Amino acid sequence: MRLLPILSLAAVLLAGCQRDAAPAAATQEAAGTPPPTPAEVVVDRHSFSEPDKVKTTDLALDLVVDFEARELVGSATLQLDWLDDSATQLVLDTRELSIEQVEGAGVEGVFVPLTFELADADPVLGSKLSINTPSRPERVRISYRTSPQASGLQWLEPSMTEGKQQPFMFSQSQQIHARSWVPLQDTPRIRFTYSATVKAPADTMVLMSADNKPDAARTGEYSFKMPQPIPSYLLAIAAGDLVFKPISERAGVWAEPAMVERATSEFGDTETMIQTAEKLYGPYRWERYDILVLPPSFPYGGMENPRLTFATPTVIVGDKSLVALIAHELAHSWSGNLVTFATSEDGWLNEGFTSYVENRIVEALFGKERSEMEYVIERNDLKTEFASLDPKLTVLATRPGDLPDPDSYSSSATAYTKGAWFLQFLEQRVGRDTFDAFLRDYFDHFAFQGITTTQFVDYLKTNLVDKHPEKLAMAEVEAWVYEPGVPDFAPKVESRRFAVVDAGRTAWLGSGELPSPQVTGEWTTQEWVYFIERMPESLSAEQIAQLDEAYAFTGTANGEVAMRWYPLVVRSGQTATAEPEIAAFLERIGRRKLILPIYSALVRSAEGKAFAQRVFDQARPGYHPITTGSVERILADARPAE
Ligand code: BES
Ligand code: ZN
Repeated sequence: MRLLPILSLAAVLLAGCQRDAAPAAATQEAAGTPPPTPAEVVVDRHSFSEPDKVKTTDLALDLVVDFEARELVGSATLQLDWLDDSATQLVLDTRELSIEQVEGAGVEGVFVPLTFELADADPVLGSKLSINTPSRPERVRISYRTSPQASGLQWLEPSMTEGKQQPFMFSQSQQIHARSWVPLQDTPRIRFTYSATVKAPADTMVLMSADNKPDAARTGEYSFKMPQPIPSYLLAIAAGDLVFKPISERAGVWAEPAMVERATSEFGDTETMIQTAEKLYGPYRWERYDILVLPPSFPYGGMENPRLTFATPTVIVGDKSLVALIAHELAHSWSGNLVTFATSEDGWLNEGFTSYVENRIVEALFGKERSEMEYVIERNDLKTEFASLDPKLTVLATRPGDLPDPDSYSSSATAYTKGAWFLQFLEQRVGRDTFDAFLRDYFDHFAFQGITTTQFVDYLKTNLVDKHPEKLAMAEVEAWVYEPGVPDFAPKVESRRFAVVDAGRTAWLGSGELPSPQVTGEWTTQEWVYFIERMPESLSAEQIAQLDEAYAFTGTANGEVAMRWYPLVVRSGQTATAEPEIAAFLERIGRRKLILPIYSALVRSAEGKAFAQRVFDQARPGYHPITTGSVERILADARPAE
């Protein structure tokens, strides 16, 4: 290692048990796969699989979607590359799967039964499936069915869809939920191609993170191919009453019929976004880029499933003010899907880079003022989050063990906002042209590989720091990557448009006079969000009523506004004025980011907690398992003040 002695010691400690010394490199070379880096071998603590012994190179799925039973039933056939000649077991990740039969095929292709053992479930990791494979077969086929409670699937009654006619089903595999619908090596350390045949009710359209055909007929039988190798967390499937509308030759929207027009016009800039990203970072390598608009219970804003971004309908607000979400998921086509974190503890390599690229796309399409506003909002949120976050979770390079449940990463300002801030710092130090060229080369260099934070830091040293020693020092890089908080030399960002909002808010708090409608008439979601977010901890009953009277925040269709307004109402002791609207919002929407702040505000009083519990009981059947888990945690941890 070429770091300062003290820092290199720190790096070794950071690496801890996660990264062991390289085993005999000869074994790996003999099998034709070079080790991931000369110096480290990566252990993914969130997977039972043993990818140093055997790697899946291809997955073939044969599934039936059974809406009545809420099950996927069928088989997964893994094509295997045995790296260890003495291995006698294939270890897979599963969660709540019923394993019916396991078979292995030799070179002659005949499948014969194999014995296996399914271990007791670990609450986070699921059940280890150990298959006895003394002859190291090239292919192993597992016949199985999923559980109706599978953590990576949501099954929706027709009443929970836009059209209310047909049921709906979708997956969310990141971080470690692919194992709840496919038995596999559920670790980003390996990549595989896949194919699938899927049977569903005749009227249902099925889509996957693969080669969806815009003109596919609804036959009830679909086949897919994904020729680019992907990590398991990018496996995705959805089924429902879905239709397609093109945006461009290679981009389009899949949505329920009642939603597809609105979605296509909201996301009309997608092709321009792709071209902007291509100009910066090289060709889009996944052929099509389509967006699937999910029902509002989708637990995230978006998910970068390759060729088919999954998106919440809550960003469709009519004025394109929230399409940064698409810029974000598209950006993952480079940062994440092409160059992938080696383990979820390197999550910032996906989300930080992507948030930076997202902002660059937003700037190119909508101008610097908009990208500045977005940075200011995110960094305010970071400040709030860091104020109460355990400092070790404010470090980019998460230490082994600090992240017991990998799902918790998605809510952390560290990976996204601090990560993007770091890249903006690098850009400003070396200059935009130099940094753009660096990132482009980085994406090419590590294309279709998983990498660790250490690998990135080494690459950064060689290709940027050492070339510009007068502009950038490794000590600064290490402060960003290995130390908690945000370095005091971080670049500042200011927004001219927010200065206007600040002035309006301050004047109102002083005099009770609201900004003129000419001023607020120009405001977009970002300004409204900032207007509310910077209010005092609580307002008087009169102030809440005055704002509502003027702007009708209560009942707003804009989730970004709602997630900030309702907590302010609650903190101001005015919950009673908005109970039906809060309940309706929490019952309709399952996107964690939008609803968790409201639950968190409610549970701080005994009354609020009782209300939150009542609403949750109503909402629960419509929530995704991931959302249910998060809300349950908030309710369980709550210690109301009264
Ligand atoms: N890949 C993430 C979602 C994710 C992260 C799921 C970690 C599970 C574990 C996705 O790209 C994402 O970041 N979504 C954000 C979008 C936002 C930052 C524009 C979301 O869902 O809020
Ligand atoms: Zn992301």
